[in-house]
Amino acid sequence: MTAYPYQTHDYDVVVVGAGGAGLRATLGMAEQGLRTACVTKVFPTRSHTVAAQGGIAASLGNMGPDHWQWHMYDTVKGSDWLGDVDAMEYLAREAPKAVYELEHYGVPFSRTEDGRIYQRPFGGHTTEFGEGKAVQRTCAAADRTGHAILHTLYGQSLKQKAKFFVEYFAIDLIMSEDGVCQGVLAWRLEDGTLHLFNARMTVLATGGYGRAYFSATSAHTCTGDGGGMVARAGLPLQDMEFVQFHPTGIFGAGVLITEGARGEGGYLTNANGERFMERYAPTYKDLASRDVVSRCMTLEIREGRGVGPNGDHIHLHLNHLPPEVFVEKLPGITESARIFAGVDARKDPIPVLPTVHYNMGGIPTNYWGEVLNPTADNPDAIAPGLMAVGEAGCASVHGANRLGSNSLIDLVVFGRAAAIRAGEILDPTEAMAAPNQASVDKALDRFDGLRHARGGVPTAELRLEMQKTMQEDAAVFRTEETLAQGVRRMTDVAAKLDDVKVTDRSMIWNSDLMETLELTNLMPNALATIVSAAARKESRGAHAHEDYPDRDDANWRVHTLAWVNGGVSLGYRPVHTNPMLGHNAGGIDPARIAPKARVY
Ligand code: FUM
Repeated sequence: MTAYPYQTHDYDVVVVGAGGAGLRATLGMAEQGLRTACVTKVFPTRSHTVAAQGGIAASLGNMGPDHWQWHMYDTVKGSDWLGDVDAMEYLAREAPKAVYELEHYGVPFSRTEDGRIYQRPFGGHTTEFGEGKAVQRTCAAADRTGHAILHTLYGQSLKQKAKFFVEYFAIDLIMSEDGVCQGVLAWRLEDGTLHLFNARMTVLATGGYGRAYFSATSAHTCTGDGGGMVARAGLPLQDMEFVQFHPTGIFGAGVLITEGARGEGGYLTNANGERFMERYAPTYKDLASRDVVSRCMTLEIREGRGVGPNGDHIHLHLNHLPPEVFVEKLPGITESARIFAGVDARKDPIPVLPTVHYNMGGIPTNYWGEVLNPTADNPDAIAPGLMAVGEAGCASVHGANRLGSNSLIDLVVFGRAAAIRAGEILDPTEAMAAPNQASVDKALDRFDGLRHARGGVPTAELRLEMQKTMQEDAAVFRTEETLAQGVRRMTDVAAKLDDVKVTDRSMIWNSDLMETLELTNLMPNALATIVSAAARKESRGAHAHEDYPDRDDANWRVHTLAWVNGGVSLGYRPVHTNPMLGHNAGGIDPARIAPKARVY
């Protein structure tokens, strides 16, 4: 056993992560008087939500008719019928409330002439259950919506006296002998001290794992820390094969150009100057769902119609838009195009390429954010004391493909839901259970082992090998061959963690050790992704399998579960196909959301 001193803190709730979901959960918990700690590896307003651009979906109907049932239908269809229907209903019904709450907290949304929240079109969002025209459903604060939300939620959380532990890196969950989560052990980067957070409820809001790939719009901090901790606690990850490629990452840099640019009237062209999306998606064209647009762009490039000297990217045109659109609606991406592509978007097209953007899979939860530990008898069994929200979690509202602007709404609806649920089930007057010392010691031993790792492979080298493997073998299009190769290569890459080399042994701001801890989190996420993808013999949403080009509802409308501990073992759990409310109780008519061909 390793002897490290640590400080102990007792809280009703510890939230790990301070992005949109973490802050919304923190705020909701603190508002109810729960003693709430938010532990975060970066300063809250630097969390990756700050980079969210285009907006947040809610059927406010400010720009024309809209209805929560239309939003729900679009989400079900966008998910390619893999999302849990009850969770998607909860999302669509609660979305307007959650957005008005943000407005009242002070989010500076862009406004219409008559002072209402401005909403723009986004891909896959339609009217009349997919029969009508595209709808303006995405509420925007110019193209800096995540930034606006994050700053507001942080201010409100401080006002509610939530306690922030900033630049604390969560090492591992503390689990009781009988599987109850008791909190988390964290390392304070600034002074090298260790901290044990005892809590009645631990909420993982650690974001996605985009950095398992070589080119991603995600921040370098998106290292799947929650998924890594959950995997080490013996709990499964869900639907990890579904990785979203955003159609418009800046070619070469991977920096995001918001879908809001197409929402405001932008369009894509190939080397012939053709607006090719008209061929593939005649109704919604450039505003088809993201997986569809990314595949079409990839096909254009593969078939020799890519632009540039090497024919390896696509053009996004905004140069026809009126000057005020750049100033009022798209100032951020105008700047990004100039800095990262050297292009004046008002005059010239922006070179773009599909780029890893979002993980539909994650830690399985119900729509209250409670983490699931499925058993043979009960696929919805709960792991007590543990919640997951935001991109770290998988409720599952996005199924096989997420619609643009459904991420920000997911963060606030489910951050809020977790707080509501915690308020119902926690009793702050009860005595706190003593933490399981064996679990604390195990976490300390792992930390110490990595700190003194004397292997032959530097962390950065191993990370690059993982990123290149994932980029090549778990891409927009997949085949039996690439997936089998990916499983072989990733198994070899993951095994090299035992031979990792850390050169800095210090405790204060040891970025070598921190990146190694992050790599130990990225690796189980990456392994689960490739193994789950190799096993799924169909095409659905973001999983485009060229040897199985059709969706197969009879055999594959199921959630994949992946337990990663050494190797990967897979299991499956049923998709929730029933809405929360019956049709007669004001819910959606189930016939409306029955599976059918997914065309745009
Ligand atoms: O394109 C965007 O602004 C991204 C939005 C999203 O991923 O929801």
